[in-house]
Amino acid sequence: MSILIKGGTVVTAENETRADVLIEGEVVAAVGKDLSSPGARVIDASGAYVIPGGIDPHTHMQLPFMGTVASEDFFTGTSAAAAGGTTTIIDFAIPNPKQSILEAYKTWRGWAEKSAADYSLHVAITWWDDSVQEEMGILCRDHGVNSFKHFMAYKNSIMCDDEILISSFSRARELGALCTVHAENGELVFRLQKEIFERGITGPEGHPMSRPPEVEGEAANRAIRIAEVLGVPVYLVHNSCIDALEAITRARLEGQRVFAEVLAQHLVIDDSVYRDPDWNKAAHHVMSPPFRPKEHQAALWKGLAAGMLQTTATDHCCFCTPQKQAGLDDFRKIPNGTNGVEDRMGVLWHHGVRTGRLTPSEFVAVTSANAAKIFNMYPKKGTIAPGSDADVVVWDPNKSRTISAKTHHQKIDFNIYEGMTMLGNAAVTLSRGKVLWEKDQLMTEKGHGRYVNRPCFAPFWDAQKLRNAGAAPTRVERKAPARAT
Ligand code: URP
Ligand code: ZN
Ligand code: ZN
Repeated sequence: MSILIKGGTVVTAENETRADVLIEGEVVAAVGKDLSSPGARVIDASGAYVIPGGIDPHTHMQLPFMGTVASEDFFTGTSAAAAGGTTTIIDFAIPNPKQSILEAYKTWRGWAEKSAADYSLHVAITWWDDSVQEEMGILCRDHGVNSFKHFMAYKNSIMCDDEILISSFSRARELGALCTVHAENGELVFRLQKEIFERGITGPEGHPMSRPPEVEGEAANRAIRIAEVLGVPVYLVHNSCIDALEAITRARLEGQRVFAEVLAQHLVIDDSVYRDPDWNKAAHHVMSPPFRPKEHQAALWKGLAAGMLQTTATDHCCFCTPQKQAGLDDFRKIPNGTNGVEDRMGVLWHHGVRTGRLTPSEFVAVTSANAAKIFNMYPKKGTIAPGSDADVVVWDPNKSRTISAKTHHQKIDFNIYEGMTMLGNAAVTLSRGKVLWEKDQLMTEKGHGRYVNRPCFAPFWDAQKLRNAGAAPTRVERKAPARAT
């Protein structure tokens, strides 16, 4: 069936135009003025924006982590995403150390089959040997994986040391793949956690104390410099502080290909949450990197507006209150993670566009188009143009939503944005031409979501190698000196 979205303002990262959008089957057939299509279902978008479906490049559905499993699965999570205007997620296959990375990828592919909207997978490198090297190649060649994740934190679990980072970054360069990193110095975190705990600080307030901004800034800078020396592009996930932003800005101004993400929650929530007298409420906010003092938020907004941070994500990784209580006596055992996949677009519109920090086109850039470009899904995803997937959202800029766990669609018993009112939300969400959300009702179906292949960018990365060629090592020809006696 055809769908005609009439009377709205179509916004892409490039422009804003009054136009209709015709959808035939799963793709956009036409964008233009006064379109007609006899027999098509007409959706009235007058007074609304028509935007590409959001892309959340960082989620963890049903992740086994810290002795438990994230409560949100791929069906509930992609459904909640649709209610908030997000139609594609990129999740992470995270192998246990010594597990085949290909096997882990296949396990996650199986879990993700029930998705209600489209998805792709980054694959984490948590250990190293020849088989990992080989399977990175297989994942790129046969499975459309072009990004590998490296956790620089979580010692004694999934943490990468520098040796693994260097091996994996070098391999990624050969393959034309993108290296992504969680930048926190895991050795320092481990030491600080121990010291703080031994001083008798056992509650959630110990969490941010053990992960100060310097710990993030050091790791961000290290990952960036390793990537620079090896001539490979790098993408830093969930930047939360000035320290990391400075490292990113410096490298980008030097011409290095560094991409960076910010989470919606780090833009609007500060570290006062950890001092809440209610243990549960404080623990709900335990995630890494932690929430920061307010001055970091202001800097992150500027970094986003200035293009130093290109994408917004959620790191959606839900653990309900009873799961969080595994750390009642020891903050180190509180599973790290918070919600947000349903909330991100509203937060970015309300606090970004309505405040004048972002234009509507910039909003589209940071909520979908840039992620689509960086992770090589563009223009299938991230725009509204003939031939693109019909992942389209009718965005009502005046739709009010007061966020609450009582009414949200995320499978978690709290919401870190509880009580906040956002103006601007999805009125209708379509995924490849199927309406998933309309009139505040979800119409999602298990298995509608499809895996999105993301081929490597070999020619693009070759340009990076060429740029670095000026620094290629050259041998100095010299006569052997007489041996000193
Ligand atoms: O606290 C977080 N962010 N949990 C999920 C795992 C990660 O570090 O991304
Ligand atoms: Zn992380
Ligand atoms: Zn994460």
